[in-house]
Amino acid sequence: MKIIYYKFMAFVVTWLMRLLPRNTPIVYKGINSALTLCEQVAVLGYTRVIIVTDEFLGSSGILDGIKARLTESGVEFVVFDGVLPDPAFDQVQVGEAILRTENCQAIIAVGGGSVLDAAKMMAMLHTNPGPLEKFDGIQKCKNFGLPLFAIPTTAGTGSEITLAAIITDPVSHRKMPIADTKMIPGYIALDAEIMKSMPPEITAATGMDALTHAVESYLSKASTEATETQARAAIRLIFMYLLKAYQDGNDMQARDAMAMASFYAGAAFGKASVGYVHGIAHQLGRVCGTPHGNANAMVLPEVLAAYGDCVHARLADLARLVNIGEPGSGDSQLAGQFIQAIVDMRQEMSLPLQPKDLKLQDITGIVDDAISEAGKLYPVPRYMSENEIRTIVNGLLAA
Ligand SMILES: [Fe+2]
Repeated sequence: MKIIYYKFMAFVVTWLMRLLPRNTPIVYKGINSALTLCEQVAVLGYTRVIIVTDEFLGSSGILDGIKARLTESGVEFVVFDGVLPDPAFDQVQVGEAILRTENCQAIIAVGGGSVLDAAKMMAMLHTNPGPLEKFDGIQKCKNFGLPLFAIPTTAGTGSEITLAAIITDPVSHRKMPIADTKMIPGYIALDAEIMKSMPPEITAATGMDALTHAVESYLSKASTEATETQARAAIRLIFMYLLKAYQDGNDMQARDAMAMASFYAGAAFGKASVGYVHGIAHQLGRVCGTPHGNANAMVLPEVLAAYGDCVHARLADLARLVNIGEPGSGDSQLAGQFIQAIVDMRQEMSLPLQPKDLKLQDITGIVDDAISEAGKLYPVPRYMSENEIRTIVNGLLAA
């Protein structure tokens, strides 16, 4: 009975994603494109903005160039640096109150996925006031948000191009996936210079998040020719450049390629959605506080292997795309080699394999919530049994 319900939900989500009208953001790309974006804020006629960021970035000097270029362009600004990892709605409310009382006309978000998600939510809350529950689900907002300029500082979440934000309920600690096409930022700068100072472990984790977006969207039943093209582009770039960006943060070609990979993967999963890897990873974040990219990396190869035969042809396509395996090899062999390449990549970047503080008594809740999230929201290639998901999650327990 549940499977019928999940199939119905997958059908609804697939067609909503395909049919909902969306704006096409304007993208500035390349070294110092963040500064070009700041100039465009003025060209577009905004004279007072709020810069949304986190405490680390707020004090790191990364904002100096952005602030200087805004001032030179005649744009006044206030800074809100109170976004925390896995942002909760109370931080969104504080940021929105500041931008309202300061009469800001637009938001410039500078940060990783948490900052971008919080800024997207602030933009929507400003024009659609109400409690968090009002936004829970798909396309719940009536009005477009405040104009939003996004400058990602990591290459992975793709939040700059997606219609979704994950906002935590500060009381229940539930992570609410909020999806609305009106949340997609209008202006985006993909600036490798801004990403240069990202430490290797963050480069690795966020890069694996991008890989997960690309692979899960490619396997999704909601994928289209367009999303598959974007997913393949992301996967090709990640296999070529993620290790290089991890090994040398100053390799600007690798940084630039990873910024594009993250963007392509975000565009792909923003329409085709994700799958069980994200279903499990979100629970690991909620229960154990595991950073999102790390959580994906812990289960990506395991989930792909568990899907079995139904994804072999698709994974074999990806193996051929990144030149893994021999030309004459069969699909199942190539699929296995592609999965092994992800295991190798995870190992080469020394990504952790187990969440800190995962306890035996947490397993059932994680399994139930992962099955429910994937069932209700994601057009997965096939529905897995409770036992299959439990085996994957049990594998994360420390020996
Ligand atoms: Fe993700």
